[in-house]
Amino acid sequence: MAALFTKETQAIFWNNNAGAIQRMLDYDYVIGRKTPSIAAIVAPTGESKFQKFFWGPDEIMINLYKNTSQAKKDHPNADVLLNFGSFRTAYDVTMEALNLGGFKTIMVTAEGIPERLSRKMIAEAKAKNVTVIGPATVGGIVPGAFKIANLGGTIENIINSKLHRAGSCGLVTRSGGLFNELANIIALNADGIAEGVAIGGDRFVGSVFIDNLLRMQENPEVKYMLLLGEVGGAEEYKVIEAIKSGKLTKPIIAWCIGTIAKYYSSGVQFGHAGASANAERETAEAKNIAMAEAGIHVPSSFNDLPRLIAQVYGELKAKGVIKDIVEPELKTVPKIRRKKEFICTISDDRGDEATYAGFPISSVATPDTGKGIGDVISLLWFKKQYPKWATDFIETVIKTVADHGPAVSGAHNAKVTARAGKSVVESLVTGLLTIGPRFGGAIDGAAEHFKYAYDNNLTPAEFLNHMKKLGIPIPGIGHRIKSLRNPDLRVVGLKKFAAEYFPSTPLLDYALTVEQLTTSKKDNLILNVDGTIGILMVDMWRALGYSEDEINEFISSGTLNAFFIAGRTIGFIGHVLDEKRLAMPMYRHPFEDILYQVDMAEDIR
Ligand code: ACO
Ligand code: LMR
Repeated sequence: MAALFTKETQAIFWNNNAGAIQRMLDYDYVIGRKTPSIAAIVAPTGESKFQKFFWGPDEIMINLYKNTSQAKKDHPNADVLLNFGSFRTAYDVTMEALNLGGFKTIMVTAEGIPERLSRKMIAEAKAKNVTVIGPATVGGIVPGAFKIANLGGTIENIINSKLHRAGSCGLVTRSGGLFNELANIIALNADGIAEGVAIGGDRFVGSVFIDNLLRMQENPEVKYMLLLGEVGGAEEYKVIEAIKSGKLTKPIIAWCIGTIAKYYSSGVQFGHAGASANAERETAEAKNIAMAEAGIHVPSSFNDLPRLIAQVYGELKAKGVIKDIVEPELKTVPKIRRKKEFICTISDDRGDEATYAGFPISSVATPDTGKGIGDVISLLWFKKQYPKWATDFIETVIKTVADHGPAVSGAHNAKVTARAGKSVVESLVTGLLTIGPRFGGAIDGAAEHFKYAYDNNLTPAEFLNHMKKLGIPIPGIGHRIKSLRNPDLRVVGLKKFAAEYFPSTPLLDYALTVEQLTTSKKDNLILNVDGTIGILMVDMWRALGYSEDEINEFISSGTLNAFFIAGRTIGFIGHVLDEKRLAMPMYRHPFEDILYQVDMAEDIR
């Protein structure tokens, strides 16, 4: 059985307990972990998608999820769940994680979970061979590898207690506070700990003393063990049994606190829910005597514990079982850290050469790289390397929508603005601002509505009805000059490309059945260029393996219209340069082209 955690262990943190998470990340940084020990955070009520944390002097982003299942799906390697749910939710959160599977260890911090539920949760975890630490615990640590949340306190305290690197003691306590105290005592009298767990103060906890000691027995880093028990319960007797049956052979030091209980009348309940003796053998005194008889090193009092630790450690050192430790280099966390104002996840200009999603510009820019504008868009817009058929499709779209003559809404505006003496950028922007649901900006809407209709198995007639009820023309249907008789050859070209290179085009196939119906009513109600692009982009993303959530997010954030914006920018600039080249004077619209019907203003004085 290996150690509880390694330097590669990653956890999902349930509840955005930012302070505790930051302390874990500071610990990670100081000990020189390569990856943060927290892979993801479940924040069921939060709206953000990530949270920034410090990583040494820098900042990193950790993804936030609404639920454990999505977090686990995206971070399958995170096999520890740090359940910081309250006593009301902790049970459900643990049970859900156990059902999801893939977790080796679940730590439950909440105090006050009803005992009936704790027992159910623990039984389920045992059946699934999952280690539960807690409830009512601060957790555990494998020094130099992974530390749970607030255990050990501040970084200074952690280093003073030698919790920044592995020592040779295996420590098990119930209490978190005394865990820290003992870590310090062990640091002062020996070489620190190799692995430690505070099992929690509740009457029913997931992993008990014996579970942890048996694991430590198998961990070669642990040379001796220290058990701090307390009044109440009979778990210490299981340790005695394991020594007698030869399952535990490493030296054990142990002490049960609560010997004072005998001075009170029976049934005194100490701080922990489990700390109450219900029978003579559950008293601290009886357990200390029994443990000493079994050969465990039991001090005469808690005050004598440091001396005993030094003695056992010294003997093992003298025998050569414990070797000298080479103190590792530690990184330091700066005292003052500045939060970054902006985040960039697509390009980086800090090195010798700027990169697009990790690709130096020179690796995509020139023809010899074999990369085109479709590749650049897939890197900068989607942070992925798309297959050639998809980058070729993107490039085809950009080229196809680059211009459609001077008469279209946007080009007309750009031309008028240029003739008013405005600059290229000002004129371009007026053209771009014309792009909207009627002109060039129906791509997202087409994707959204056709996708809805197809996914809900609406017949074309039902779809038309549905849109009628919504009171909006079907985005992607209809054109001012193109019709069945005068087909839009751009659409023909895109459909031809898709037929040749797309793995399949289910949404386009559906859209064409809708077009049959709309054109039967009026022959200009064709599937237009916006509609064809929007629909084929959905087919493309589905073929590329995007999830429905990801595709919906592309649509709602306006990604599809962006293809038209990018492409038509080329054409608008062309028209603006054309105006400038021709040195065209200011434009004024002819009177004859305007219907003037101006009545005298109504007098309402
Ligand atoms: N869905 C349903 N019915 C429609 C649609 C549509 N998309 N478009 C037009 N109609 C109907 C109208 O309701 C009208 O019906 P009616 O005669 O019973 O009153 C009839 O067709 C004609 O409507 P107009 O608005 O006169 O159509 P027009 O040809 O002028 O409009 C336009 C063209 C603006 C493109 C329109 O079809 C439309 O709004 N389509 C949806 C938006 C869209 O896809 N725009 C992108 C176009 S391509 C591009 O800009 C690059
Ligand atoms: C375009 O590409 O601009 C159009 O299809 C719109 C139009 O009016 O031609």
